Amino acid sequence: MSEKTLPLSPEELLKLAENIPTPFYLYDEKAIVENARRFTSLFSWAPGFRNYFAVKACPNPSIVSILGREGFGSDCSSLPEMVMSEACGITGESLMFTSNNTPPEEFVEAYRQGAIINLDDITHIDAMVEALGEVPSLICFRYNPGPERTGNAIIGNPVEAKYGLTSSQIVDAYRIMKEKGAKRFGLHTMVASNELDGSYIVETARMLFELCVKIQKEAGVRIEFIDMGGGIGIPYKPEQDAMDLEAVSKGMHELYKEIIIPAALDPLNIVFECGRVITGPYGYLVTSVRHVSSKYKEYVGVDASMSDLMRPALYGAYHHITAVGKETQAHDHIYDVTGSLCENNDKFAIDRALPELEKGDILVIHDVGAHGHAMGFNYNAKLRPAEYLLKEDNSIVMIRRAQTYDDYVATLRFDGAEVVL
Ligand SMILES: Cc1ncc(COP(=O)(O)O)c(C=O)c1O
Repeated sequence: MSEKTLPLSPEELLKLAENIPTPFYLYDEKAIVENARRFTSLFSWAPGFRNYFAVKACPNPSIVSILGREGFGSDCSSLPEMVMSEACGITGESLMFTSNNTPPEEFVEAYRQGAIINLDDITHIDAMVEALGEVPSLICFRYNPGPERTGNAIIGNPVEAKYGLTSSQIVDAYRIMKEKGAKRFGLHTMVASNELDGSYIVETARMLFELCVKIQKEAGVRIEFIDMGGGIGIPYKPEQDAMDLEAVSKGMHELYKEIIIPAALDPLNIVFECGRVITGPYGYLVTSVRHVSSKYKEYVGVDASMSDLMRPALYGAYHHITAVGKETQAHDHIYDVTGSLCENNDKFAIDRALPELEKGDILVIHDVGAHGHAMGFNYNAKLRPAEYLLKEDNSIVMIRRAQTYDDYVATLRFDGAEVVL
């Protein structure tokens, strides 16, 4: 069971929603910091342990900086994410550049910053060397085990996934880079997303540990670190349990002793690039009820839309909803909770049991601190919502203002005067 709590008392939340326009995101700094510390301390046995926060999960400099202060690096998938991380003081080998289908200018930016370049494809070796005009001394490859692993619903079956080097390419890739003059090597994988079964993560460690041994034997390359990727899930549903990270750490430690130490590969640094499990539970989307209506079903229309939070529409994902101030009332009404896009899948919940709702009620959508605001978009010219941070001293600060009409049209050319051909 995972209790769905609010970061403020209902009275404080209602007051906040009176003072700032809904919808808005609210993140809980203290909870993020405590969680980050716990995550790091759980793996204290692991050499060089570190999480590179997946910036894509919550690309807001305030959040990235909070995690930077906790010793996290940044896992970046694009040039803007790298620039943002650098602005937060996270650069050099604190920056993991895990991209795919990568344009040359992104290799150049990663190299300029001294980031760890994690190649997604064997053809990217030549593309990267051509872009850089030289060979980086540190290189990492993303491994895709194909039929050896099952993957899961969000990331897909590894055989169908576009990511990584195959089992028949991976050893050659290290051989090639060694011949080209690379000196330091990492090995990465990411085969699951939002996974709650800890044994899956332990099995991933086994797979990478065994692959380190194979790469050492067959390519004469010693792997300096493994990057376990992200993919640790969170219990979106109250009846779900969080992953037992203590057991995961213990299981990985056992395998380390069983595989890595006898192979004389100790110390092998171990890193993750988790996003969701770091900030996911500590972000809230606050929205107001605009209309309650009855058609063939009962609808609650709120002032947020799927353009503010895409996961329910994209994945059919469950996000818990609390009606603020009505927590203890009987949840005896069944509603679809909808936004206002011209899209019938613009629903935050379908057939959800909630207390009786009325216009003006404040709803909190839980577990949106990762892949929430970040996945938003502007369809129907919906403007993106603001983000606020509940700080450790209990003050609340704006960390992103809401988008305005002027922001939305800033890239448009109304006069059509810019001839390009
Ligand atoms: C390469 C890579 N690393 C890390 C992550 C972060 O995953 P999560 O937020 O599920 O931990 C993702 C998510 O899409 C990813 O694609």
